[in-house]
Amino acid sequence: MSEKTESAYGGAAMAQKKLTIPELVAMKRDGKKITMMTAYDVAFARLVDRAGIDMLLVGDSAGMVMLGYPNTVPVTMDNMVQMAASVARGATHPVLVGDMPFGTYQTGPQDALRNAARFLKEAGMDAVKIEGGRETVDTVRMLVENGIAVMAHVGLTPQRVAQFGGFKTQARSARAARRLIDDAVALEDAGAFSIVLESIPAPVAAMVTERLGIPTIGIGAGPDCDGQVLVLHDVLGLFGDFKPKFAKRYADIGSQVVAALTAFDADVRSGAFPDADHSFTMKETELEALKQDLARPARPKAV
Ligand code: KIV
Repeated sequence: MSEKTESAYGGAAMAQKKLTIPELVAMKRDGKKITMMTAYDVAFARLVDRAGIDMLLVGDSAGMVMLGYPNTVPVTMDNMVQMAASVARGATHPVLVGDMPFGTYQTGPQDALRNAARFLKEAGMDAVKIEGGRETVDTVRMLVENGIAVMAHVGLTPQRVAQFGGFKTQARSARAARRLIDDAVALEDAGAFSIVLESIPAPVAAMVTERLGIPTIGIGAGPDCDGQVLVLHDVLGLFGDFKPKFAKRYADIGSQVVAALTAFDADVRSGAFPDADHSFTMKETELEALKQDLARPARPKAV
């Protein structure tokens, strides 16, 4: 049962029952589709929460849509922890996943454990996400053995954008697809509770989904995945710099924001804002007293 409470921003926040990782994994077994959305701050986390989304990813896509970098590589752990903590203060229902930035888990197990633990201890995340195939299997196993739930991520892993020569669809040849399927199986064996499949042919994603017991969450991976994820700014029309083919725009909030700000700009310049409805008054007697006080000659300053 959901309980409604009024919040200053994002309208009514719903204090909803928290979804757990085992419940999420069971959704695959029960044939229920899983939804995941990114968010990077408390206002949008509340809205994602109200929409009933199952998983909320604080993605390192923040590097592009929040921080203005050309790709996700420059994002730091401090960037991510601050945004993730904000998100955790706004979302009550979804499983919360913090995305491990480039260079925070490849440098060795101790670094991976320390950085992943920051997401749980400092930011209130339920799990972390790590990009990569078999080269990350030992890290995934070590994190899981130490009590940290891990979501894997294969296919177009944006942290390798330079190696890939751009944001290109992966696993298009039989050989590359076979490698990806084997990677996914190895990551499940290592203990990952779920896996993102990004920008791969739909039939390959279907084969991975059929072979794994854990949920596959697709982004540009066709309709046969157990769930789907998109980047919030793509869905809402808040980011025009880069639009992947797989990103579906469900709203054009960007245009509405520009229209609202243009109206504010015009109102201030014309004097239409603020009007009486948005201003404060004081008692006539107090105002008169103030005026008389100001009219009196100033008292000499004490030396
Ligand atoms: O960083 C991100 O937002 C992601 C999703 C695209 C899966 O990794």
